[in-house]
Amino acid sequence: MLTRRQAIKTTALSTAAITVAPVMMAQNNPVVAAEVAFKLPRLPYALDALEPHIDARTMEIHHGKHHKAYVDNLNKVLAEHPTLAAKSIEDLVKDLNTSAVPEKIRPTVRNNGGGHFNHTLFWQMMSKSGGGEPKAELAKAIELNFGSFAEFKKKFAESASKVFGSGWAWLVVESKELKIISMPNQNSPISPDVLPSEVHDSSGKKLTFIHSTQQPLLGLDVWEHAYYLKHQNRRVDYIAAWWNVVNWDFVGDRYAKYKS
Ligand SMILES: [Fe+2]
Repeated sequence: MLTRRQAIKTTALSTAAITVAPVMMAQNNPVVAAEVAFKLPRLPYALDALEPHIDARTMEIHHGKHHKAYVDNLNKVLAEHPTLAAKSIEDLVKDLNTSAVPEKIRPTVRNNGGGHFNHTLFWQMMSKSGGGEPKAELAKAIELNFGSFAEFKKKFAESASKVFGSGWAWLVVESKELKIISMPNQNSPISPDVLPSEVHDSSGKKLTFIHSTQQPLLGLDVWEHAYYLKHQNRRVDYIAAWWNVVNWDFVGDRYAKYKS
C-alpha cells in the first residue's frame, strides 16, 4: 500500500480529476510541519507554450504566484478543518454554501477554493496546439444553441468584456442546454446558488441553497492579473488573443461527460 506521501507524489494533476489527499495534522509534534491538503498543479505545458498569445511572464506569475496564493490560503484556512481538507476541490466548492462549510470561513473558501478549482480547469482549457473550432458533438451543440460558432464567440467575448472588475466568463451546460454566464471574483458555476431566506420546502423547512446543475465547459479568466503585463487595460485584445489557444479537445471531452 502506498504511504500517504507517496500517494500525493503520484497524484496526476494534469488531468481534469482534481483529487487531493487528506490533510495530516502534526497534532502531537509541533516540530513536524503539517502536510498540506491541496497542492498547486503543474502546468500541462511550458510557461512559454502559449506565446505569442499568452506571454510566458504572465503565465509564470499567474500560475506560480496567483494560483499558488489561492492554494496556500485555502490550506491555511482549512488547517483546522480536516474533514473539509479531505474533500476533493470539486466537492469542496460544490458544498460551499451548505452547512458543511462554516459561515465564518465561507468567504475565504469561496475565494481561494474557487480560485484553485477555476484555475486548475483554466490551464487545461488552453493548449499550444489550441485555437480553431470545436468539433463533433460540441460543434453541433454550439450551433444549435447559439446559431453559429461565430455568434457564440461574439456573445462569449461580449460577456467576458462586460465583467465589471475581476471575474470569469463561462460556457456551461445545464439540463442539456449550453449557456454563457459570467461570475464575479472566484465564484464558480459548480457552487450552489443561494436562495432567499424566505424560501421553504413543502414541509416548511427553510431552504438555504440549491445545488448548481451547471457544469463549466470553457472558462475565461478576465482578472487583470491574466493579461495586464501584455495588454495593460485592453481586455478586448486579450480575449481576441485567447481564442488562439483554446483547447477545444478538452472542452469537447467535458461536454461529452456532462451533456446529459
Ligand atoms: Fe487568474
